[in-house]
Amino acid sequence: MISLKTKFFGLELDNPLIVASSSLTANADKIREFSEHGAGAIVLKSVFEEEVVNEYNQIAQTKSSAHFEEFIDYFDYKIRDQVLATYGKLIRDARNVSKAPIIASINCVSAGDWLQFASQVQDAGADAIELNLFVMPCDPMTTAEGSRKFYLNAVREVAGRVRIPVTVKISSYFSDLASVCNALAGEKLAGITLFNRFANPDIDIEKEKLVEAQPLSGDLEYLLPLRWTGILSPRLGCPLAASTGIYTAEQVIKMLLAGAHAVQMASVFYKKGASHLGELRKEIAHWMEKKGYDSIEDFRGRLSLTKAANPGVYARAQYLSSFGGYAAADKKRL
Ligand SMILES: Cc1cc2nc3c(=O)[nH]c(=O)nc-3n(C[C@H](O)[C@H](O)[C@H](O)COP(=O)(O)O)c2cc1C
Repeated sequence: MISLKTKFFGLELDNPLIVASSSLTANADKIREFSEHGAGAIVLKSVFEEEVVNEYNQIAQTKSSAHFEEFIDYFDYKIRDQVLATYGKLIRDARNVSKAPIIASINCVSAGDWLQFASQVQDAGADAIELNLFVMPCDPMTTAEGSRKFYLNAVREVAGRVRIPVTVKISSYFSDLASVCNALAGEKLAGITLFNRFANPDIDIEKEKLVEAQPLSGDLEYLLPLRWTGILSPRLGCPLAASTGIYTAEQVIKMLLAGAHAVQMASVFYKKGASHLGELRKEIAHWMEKKGYDSIEDFRGRLSLTKAANPGVYARAQYLSSFGGYAAADKKRL
């Protein structure tokens, strides 16, 4: 009997297919649908610190009365309260309609008061917390050391406040990625997700205007998380989930072979709907049957850095020999 069970978020999951945080996981009807189609876990839309800070700043700018301080305190309290109440309701609604574990997602851009929110998320019934941590490293004065401090402080702040498992989802924008992941894993996280994918800028050349790029990933983008999953999975002692550009059962299997415990997907569900989960599960089970594997652990990590016969492929970045290969093949054709 083939089992797709795996572990991530400190929980046993029925299968490794996690519905990633997005607007698709911001309402109970959609969440029910993902659960009915057999999601391994569902990560709710993030609650964003930036959103609260922006709203707070807008209101603060309109207040110039003698009671400025009072207003600031009042609105700070009020905005946070509203955000917490709305997110708490989403967690409770999601819990009521989903058999799959419900993971709350907290975005933060500073490691301050905002993270007190974690204990309220726990009280609302979330099974685990995913910290969606990111500060765009575009300030020339920000050093790798400064960024690392922010990530570690945020994780410590949250892990110190809750009993439920805590994971982080990070970007690949680190000059010392392996070292940062190693430090995060040392905080006894229940998992690290490699990688988040963000809104990108683009340029409209007709209007000569800066615009937002279309938000969905392309299916070759899976190669970046594949590389880092393969490199880091045998070294961290912390479960990894791969994310970005994962659309097909073949790509899910590749991530598992590289050592991921699970995958997180969003774009594919915008394109194919929640029912795609059933097809993915069927195709993964079919491949396992063909290969004679009973469980994910039978093959997980078989092609990681420490197990692959040719691990140098993970570290190779330049196209020296393959470019030569293409050149030779092209010559033959001519
Ligand atoms: C429209 C949209 C909204 C998203 N919102 C969030 C979010 O609120 N929090 C978060 O951590 N990730 C968010 N993401 C990122 C996804 O969770 C995921 O990490 C990323 O899209 C890469 O996976 P994919 O290639 O399968 O889309 C969003 C992605 C999309 C496309």
